[in-house]
Amino acid sequence: MVPVLLSLLLLLGPAVPQETQDGRYSLTYVYTGLSKPVGDIPKFQAFGFLNDLSFFEYDSEDRRSRPLGPWRQVEGMEDWEQDSQLQKAREDIFMQTLNDITEYYNDSNGSHTLQGRFGCEIQNNRSTGAFWEYTYDERGYIKFDKEIPAWIPLDPAAHITKQKWEAEPDYVLRAKAYLEKECPATLRKYLNYSKSILDRQDPPSVMVTSHQAQGEDKKLKCLAYSFYPREIDMHWTRAGEVQEPDSGGDVLYSGNGTYQAWVVVQVSPKDTAPYSCYVQHSSLAQPLVVPEDAS
Ligand SMILES: *[C@@H]1O[C@H](CO)[C@@H](O)[C@H](O)[C@H]1NC(C)=O
Ligand SMILES: *[C@@H]1O[C@H](CO)[C@@H](O)[C@H](O)[C@H]1NC(C)=O
Ligand SMILES: *[C@@H]1O[C@H](CO)[C@@H](O)[C@H](O)[C@H]1NC(C)=O
Ligand SMILES: *[C@@H]1O[C@H](CO)[C@@H](O)[C@H](O)[C@H]1NC(C)=O
Repeated sequence: MVPVLLSLLLLLGPAVPQETQDGRYSLTYVYTGLSKPVGDIPKFQAFGFLNDLSFFEYDSEDRRSRPLGPWRQVEGMEDWEQDSQLQKAREDIFMQTLNDITEYYNDSNGSHTLQGRFGCEIQNNRSTGAFWEYTYDERGYIKFDKEIPAWIPLDPAAHITKQKWEAEPDYVLRAKAYLEKECPATLRKYLNYSKSILDRQDPPSVMVTSHQAQGEDKKLKCLAYSFYPREIDMHWTRAGEVQEPDSGGDVLYSGNGTYQAWVVVQVSPKDTAPYSCYVQHSSLAQPLVVPEDAS
């Protein structure tokens, strides 16, 4: 479960803008369809995010919406059976669109990716934005302009998609109403059950380890884990001076509602200066400083 999620997030790139604790909350859906699935990745996957955290998943393999991470323990937020029906209907439309595109390009055998992202955000309980857009092989494909309202093609094949979608009576008005009313209402309902997860301050645990292969530099690794929110400042110091890391610096989602991150420095065997790992996070009254020899 976790490795699949991580690999998908890597595939997607940064899924959702990072939020801070300033009364801003967002609900984002990310749909991904593959014309030719590779390995274990299903043809179709849907993820929902509240701020930066994935709260549910659906895929074409078992066709069921499932709460993720801390939302597995949340009761009553969503009727997941009913949501599965909704996601199934969306999967069918989504895969039909992908099929239309590959047909348009006479490339029904090729390996192509359609991705849809849509969602809304509120700040201090007021609606502050919404979007709905698709990419095909990571290039803009079509996006919704809710002011006109209309679908705006960004790719030659998208004119066909626009025609198809707009042929349905009221479709653009329903899309607009979804983004401006239904999505913020769903977000408010979800927040009623999720604020304690999203507003939480989980302090990092920090572990320092040291590795040295024969005849090589010593590698000092500082690992911070189980923290939330995502933002963290961590580095090694040598006799109090900040050191550029040799590797690390990425922050990874652990799948359970917390993040982990690490930094590594290489130290020459002749270097006897004291090294310490410095970690600052919003949950901490003061930075954690862990000396190397704590390992
Ligand atoms: C796809 O094939 C059809 C029929 O062979 C042709 O008319 C059309 O121009 C082709 N489309 C593209 C995008 O190459
Ligand atoms: C698609 O597959 C068919 C049958 O396997 C093959 O004849 C055709 O050349 C393939 N087209 C492309 C563009 O690879
Ligand atoms: C937030 O906004 C909604 C819709 O405008 C309203 O029904 C609700 O009472 C508001 N909640 C708070 C806490 O102000
Ligand atoms: C908020 O959640 C509580 C349970 O935690 C529930 O009883 C209540 O109906 C919910 N309110 C809304 C507006 O969803």
